[in-house]
Amino acid sequence: MKVLRSPRTLISWRRRLDRDGITVGMVPTMGALHAGHRALIRKARLACDALVVSLFVNPKQFGPREDFARYPRSFTHDATMCRQEGVDLLYAPSLEAMYPAGHQTSVTVREVSARWEGAVRPHHFGGVVTVVAKLLSAARPDIAFFGQKDFQQTVVIKRLVTDLNLDVTVRVCPTVREADGLALSSRNIYLSPGERRVAPRLYAALQAGRAAMHRGMTSGAEVTRAMKTILAREPLVTVDYLAVCDPMTLEPLRVVRRSAVLLGAIRLGNVRLIDNILVGR
Ligand code: PAF
Repeated sequence: MKVLRSPRTLISWRRRLDRDGITVGMVPTMGALHAGHRALIRKARLACDALVVSLFVNPKQFGPREDFARYPRSFTHDATMCRQEGVDLLYAPSLEAMYPAGHQTSVTVREVSARWEGAVRPHHFGGVVTVVAKLLSAARPDIAFFGQKDFQQTVVIKRLVTDLNLDVTVRVCPTVREADGLALSSRNIYLSPGERRVAPRLYAALQAGRAAMHRGMTSGAEVTRAMKTILAREPLVTVDYLAVCDPMTLEPLRVVRRSAVLLGAIRLGNVRLIDNILVGR
């Protein structure tokens, strides 16, 4: 497995593959790889001839009081997983290589970034789309793989790809969960044992929303209430939002006619957890 550290070397690597006409897959990550990333990498490995995984903890998507400094970094573990999964190229650029002195361009995706995570973390999606635009334009993958756990992120990135005419297919892969339903996340390690016990209630709340819809409930407000009821019994939990939304626009739905995405974000102490379920009618 090759390891590259700068956009310039990634661009040259990709240019050489152009001549062979092979399919390139990319799994962008911030490292601290877990079983959810492994599942993404496996899907990508099966779908593509050459596979690049990027590891870059992107400072631009963290707010000033967020966890950039203490975000878990585990290069040796991540490289071992990538090697085990047959990754061809590990792209782990330095901060200076990604954002050299003088860097001043950022990308904004407006409407779909504004609500939910965007309302709680105002700079977050600007940072995400800027780095994803840089990664995709350097690696030029045919397919880029993202996890459904960050549902709003996938909607924002699809908008970026459409609006900038990037020649890449965005493939969204299912969320991987612990046995008790907690969605895997690199930040789960921050949870204290008490918080960890309560954390799966977020998924339980989303499941309650889905069950209500399956029983025929069509009012967005009532489905939201069904979700809130589950978390209202949990004193450790602060709800940032629970919502029933259109899966394309992320606008809240007053009446659920067809498909919907149930979005949730909670805080447990200093840890924020997000999760979602797509429900078809
Ligand atoms: O989902 C993530 O890990 C990050 O937001 C991404 C897409 C790698 C951009 O830094």
